[in-house]
Amino acid sequence: MNSLTLPGLIDPHVHLRDPGQTEKEDFLTGSQAALAGGFTTILDMPNNSIPITKKQLLDKKIQDAMGKTLCDVGFYFGTLGDNTDEFDSIAHQVHGLKVYLNETTGNFQIDKEKLITIYQAWPEHGGPILLHAENEAVVFALEVVEKIKKPTHFCHIGNAKDLSLIISAKKKNLPITCGVTPHHLFLTIDDAKRLGPLGQMKPPLYTNEDKTFLWKQIKNIDVIESDHAPHTIAEKQRIPSPFGVPGLETTLPLLITAVRDGKLNQEDILRLCFTNPSRIFSITSSENTSVDVDITTPYTIRNSTLYTKCKWSPFDGMAVIGKVIKARIRGTTVFENGSFLVPPGWGWTV
Ligand code: DOR
Ligand code: ZN
Repeated sequence: MNSLTLPGLIDPHVHLRDPGQTEKEDFLTGSQAALAGGFTTILDMPNNSIPITKKQLLDKKIQDAMGKTLCDVGFYFGTLGDNTDEFDSIAHQVHGLKVYLNETTGNFQIDKEKLITIYQAWPEHGGPILLHAENEAVVFALEVVEKIKKPTHFCHIGNAKDLSLIISAKKKNLPITCGVTPHHLFLTIDDAKRLGPLGQMKPPLYTNEDKTFLWKQIKNIDVIESDHAPHTIAEKQRIPSPFGVPGLETTLPLLITAVRDGKLNQEDILRLCFTNPSRIFSITSSENTSVDVDITTPYTIRNSTLYTKCKWSPFDGMAVIGKVIKARIRGTTVFENGSFLVPPGWGWTV
């Protein structure tokens, strides 16, 4: 077996559902999924069942995480534009502000007229403004960034049109970055048909041409973010099915497999899953924090072997390489050969 040692990777976009929807995931199971997937730091989104739009809710969430997480976890604040008076008091506790310009899980979409006020009020030391923007919302948001030049991260860009808009705006030196998800890099609308509700997420899966464009432009993409969005199988099979798919345990194997297949370099993985997320979201990396990955033994992604509480993946049945065999944080081995070696709450909130 050949193994590769990488720095502990950073996933800047996960939904651990805690507090409020711990039947889907919680800080313990979500952090287990992170470590088993090679991520030692994850940043959690604010669209909890009660969205994190007040300092009191953020403080409580951080407390909950401190008692449960095995890996390091940081947070984003949420807004519908009516809580700008909270911004100054929480900016030091978060890695950014998340704003939803399109409909998705949690009904947490802003009235877009409020975006300017939000941009004016957000203090830059609170990190970038992260946007869920699709289609026309990308155009609209870029106009706002052009007016108020605050660092902005476009989350999970899924199609060629949206990515082209962002690439053009980058050429104008706007302070923007963007992420793509593994599901948009590895799946298309054809998979969505095969997967039914298990292939439904926001943004949705697009065409093979879109997918090919994302790969071709990988140098213009700043981060890979899983958008780990677990829902129980029972919820996914209901109508309407909630949007979202889990991803923490499949991102790295998919990327390592892409390196084997000549679609990516190892340096790209470092850039997309460590160096750039660390810079964009101000993650101070800890010493002696690394993951060892088996890069030769083929295996098959199986729902039954996942640590995420929802126990399913849109990649179930896919043959890959890249199993994580060991994760170390600050010199302590926290995960080895399928076992977690530290107690709940061992990880830091960052
Ligand atoms: O598919 C998605 N699921 N997209 C989102 O933006 C939210 C996420 C969730 O929280 O389930
Ligand atoms: Zn998300």
